[in-house]
Amino acid sequence: MSNATKLIHSIPVDPLTGSVSVPIYQTSTFVQEAPGVHKGYDYARSNNPTRETLEKIIAELEGGVKASAFASGLAAIDAVVKLLQSGDEILAVDDIYGGAFRLFTHIYSKFGIKVNYTDTTDVANVIDAITPATKLIWLETPTNPTLKISDIEAIGRIAKQHNILLCVDNTFASPALQRPLELGADIVVHSATKYLGGHSDLIAGLVVSKTQELGDQIKFIQNASGAILAPHDSWLVIRGVETLHLRVAEHSRNALAVAKHLQGHPLVDKVYYPGLETHVNHTIAAKQQSAFGGIVSFTLKTDTEDAAALVTTATKYFKLAESLGGVKSLLCHPASMTHKSIPAEKRQAAGVADSLIRLSVGLETVEDLIQDIDQALAGVHKKLKATEALTY
Ligand SMILES: Cc1ncc(COP(=O)(O)O)c(C=O)c1O
Repeated sequence: MSNATKLIHSIPVDPLTGSVSVPIYQTSTFVQEAPGVHKGYDYARSNNPTRETLEKIIAELEGGVKASAFASGLAAIDAVVKLLQSGDEILAVDDIYGGAFRLFTHIYSKFGIKVNYTDTTDVANVIDAITPATKLIWLETPTNPTLKISDIEAIGRIAKQHNILLCVDNTFASPALQRPLELGADIVVHSATKYLGGHSDLIAGLVVSKTQELGDQIKFIQNASGAILAPHDSWLVIRGVETLHLRVAEHSRNALAVAKHLQGHPLVDKVYYPGLETHVNHTIAAKQQSAFGGIVSFTLKTDTEDAAALVTTATKYFKLAESLGGVKSLLCHPASMTHKSIPAEKRQAAGVADSLIRLSVGLETVEDLIQDIDQALAGVHKKLKATEALTY
């Protein structure tokens, strides 16, 4: 069965009515025949049929055993960290989503969980950074926002050797492009707010586990902590999944064209896109992903926040907003937006330069998107030339 067929048919027809759309069970509780005797549902925080259907779908798509759906991607990340205890350490990729950094640094440090950061794109760094207390390796691949690629298979082997859990944030690739559990990861997390939802209309998170034991632990945490995904939002993610393979294929095609175009632009310094042969880990990306996704980041030759701000307010189709992965193109300035919570030196050391701009390349016609970027960059070039002695 092809992935597209599998994806579409992972969404079940309702066995009760034959409805082709999954029903939304908008209820808080379920009537019991006798105390503890019920149809598998007692209280909707513990289980809800709509959320349960989404959880089964995503577990199948990621090749996992069990999934749990959360109120946000950060709630999903939070649930994974709750597998640990005081004194444990996390070894995380240095270019990490700012919200995950904030959670690790400002919340979990108070509970005795330490996070060490390293550039996981080089496997040797991972081996060097492991300590006896390391219990979890945290990868994002590709990373937000500089699209770093880590070798999941190689790091999975190292994690196994040291009896450490490997969790991969698969938000940027989605299961349509990359399946980390099949490459050796134990846990996958998603901000389903992004490609899985796909339409910029909800906030959601998912955790998928490779084993029943881990899946049961996450399910326990989901119920005990309570950050569950609501039935209607669960349904929206299911609807997003129906077109996931089509959308990410087109996002990837558009993004590659935009990245190639930016590479030749006189105002642009670096272009980050794993689909470019010049990307430092292009070979690994090509090995573990079937396409390269819809996010492209780039820096300007004038590496200042002001220059970046001029670009981000000059585009017409790329709207300035946080988030990514929807059908409409968006752009953001990570240093002052999504990654603001990371101290400037740490942020810059991880490659998030002051002028870095992150594009979420949408599903508009790519020629229109390229024209939009060109007109914005040309306008900014003119403004900068009037104020600075630009030599380009
Ligand atoms: C890679 C990544 N992981 C996790 C999150 C957090 O997800 P949410 O915003 O749904 O809480 C984000 C949000 O941008 C993200 O980009």
